[in-house]
Amino acid sequence: MGYAEVTVVQGDITQQQVDAVVNAANRRMRGGGGVDGAIHRAGGPAVLEDCRRRFPHGLATGDAGWTTAGDLPARWVVHVVGPNHAAGETDRALLVSCYARALAVADELGARTVAFPLVSAGIYGWPRQDAIDCAVATLAGTPTTVEEARIVAHDAATAAQVRASLSE
Ligand code: AR6
Repeated sequence: MGYAEVTVVQGDITQQQVDAVVNAANRRMRGGGGVDGAIHRAGGPAVLEDCRRRFPHGLATGDAGWTTAGDLPARWVVHVVGPNHAAGETDRALLVSCYARALAVADELGARTVAFPLVSAGIYGWPRQDAIDCAVATLAGTPTTVEEARIVAHDAATAAQVRASLSE
């Protein structure tokens, strides 16, 4: 097993031409705002149906699991539940676990290209720079058969911050 090449693009995660996109979900796994809302809107009802079928009791914080990607260009959605910093969940190991578990699920699926959002960095309020450093270090340092781990930054300033973290 090798290591993924970590790349960064600015854009919308739902539009990525990759094998799997990672969703920043919540424990209930029934949709929400941010990336989760965008993925369910663009993926269509098949994503929610599969969430209900495969995750009747939801998913634990720090864990990952997959569903169909419905109408998205990707084949699978790998859902992770980041820690809710804004609600006092500040254990960084849980954020590391989201990326490590997502890579492990991608390995099981045979996904070679995977697009990641900055988990917990939006509604869940994780400090931006640390969310970026955590994503970059975990994606670059976890053995995997994934070839490209693409961090998708929603805006230009965040994309520049990710690029800086990558070149450190
Ligand atoms: N493409 C790429 N990045 C995006 C997109 C997009 N379409 N939309 C937002 N971002 P968030 P969280 C960025 O809030 O913090 C939901 O309600 C955003 O700017 O999506 O883990 C869930 O159901 C930020 O940098 O995820 C949960 O309840 C990053 O993606 C909760 O929000 C993550 O922001 C999860 O909150």
